[in-house]
Amino acid sequence: MTSPLSRADKFCQRFDLRVPILLAPMAGACPASLAIAVAKAGGMGSAGALLMSPAAIAKWMQEFRSSSNGAVQLNLWIPDPPPKRDPAHEAKVREFLGRFGPPVPESAGDGTPPDFAAQCEALLEAGPAVVSSIMGLYPPDFVSRLKARGIAWFATATTTTEALAAEAAGADVIVAQGAEAGGHRGAFDPAEAERRAVGLFALLPAIVDAVRVPVVAAGGIGDGRGVAAALALGASAAQIGTAFLRCPEAKTPPAWADALAKTKPEDTVISRAFSGRPGRSIATEYARAALSPETPAPAPYPVQRGLTAAMREAATKENDVQRMQAWAGQSAALARAEPAEEVVARIWDEARKLLA
Ligand SMILES: Cc1cc2nc3c(=O)[nH]c(=O)nc-3n(C[C@H](O)[C@H](O)[C@H](O)COP(=O)(O)O)c2cc1C
Repeated sequence: MTSPLSRADKFCQRFDLRVPILLAPMAGACPASLAIAVAKAGGMGSAGALLMSPAAIAKWMQEFRSSSNGAVQLNLWIPDPPPKRDPAHEAKVREFLGRFGPPVPESAGDGTPPDFAAQCEALLEAGPAVVSSIMGLYPPDFVSRLKARGIAWFATATTTTEALAAEAAGADVIVAQGAEAGGHRGAFDPAEAERRAVGLFALLPAIVDAVRVPVVAAGGIGDGRGVAAALALGASAAQIGTAFLRCPEAKTPPAWADALAKTKPEDTVISRAFSGRPGRSIATEYARAALSPETPAPAPYPVQRGLTAAMREAATKENDVQRMQAWAGQSAALARAEPAEEVVARIWDEARKLLA
């Protein structure tokens, strides 16, 4: 049996890393400064490009490369079919949201995400070491083009069935996302995202046993103990999101960053309240009210994202975490307000000692 440290070492050699720690792609929350710092420490930087135009993707990559020649991952969501609109129900949601932020105009839900095909072209053009996916699988022709350019595909999976489908579609690495994870759940079928919320301790060894490709662990990993446990359970590396959000390079709004330090595992909640897709956030006043049985159910993705935009923007401007889109994993309190380079070094030092 391969030892956890030699498995991690093999992964590091393959992906040109000194440390088997990956910054999780976090749409809207991973400025190039954070990726640069993580890469400088020997880990892998990343960008969640969901909301970026092709020009913004190119600009982000240029900024990263101007300060780092380290490894980097660019990430996209696989699009859902267009949502079914229900104007009468949306009116009720708009009225509810108006109690937490500015009045929500009727057109607020009409926005569409950037064009996926154009974003895919921008990823190829940017040429990172790794392109990753969440919420499904890339189309076969895009996978062939990635491979032709020597770009590895890391596919996020929240179940063993999804992991097997990703491996069969050509994924080079599976990212096993446990239900502890902050931000959106990567379930391929959003209707099943809450029912199939599997914790990382059960998910990781099951995926490791099911697939032949390396597996990266994500969800609730916030210190060396988490990384050591993930490697012991068969992972080749750990992908960490929330634990980087208090780093100065993350530029997280202060009220959100401060709240993470006080967020116990039971103080986060999975809801569709912000975007229409299930995601884990701090159980703020808004998130709790949105989950109340009397509240109209959120509109589907991405309509709900549009409907909540005004409230989220006002909350960020006013630094009010109770109405902010304050994503957080269950290990949020492990996040420290330290430079990202120190976070990577501290976590890996601790993990290595535990595994030695
Ligand atoms: C603020 C935030 C935004 C996220 N956005 C994305 C994203 O765009 N794409 C993606 O694959 N995962 C996204 N995630 C999930 C992370 O990639 C990862 O699975 C998660 O952060 C791991 O759990 P942890 O936060 O407990 O470390 C996001 C997570 C957070 C906290």
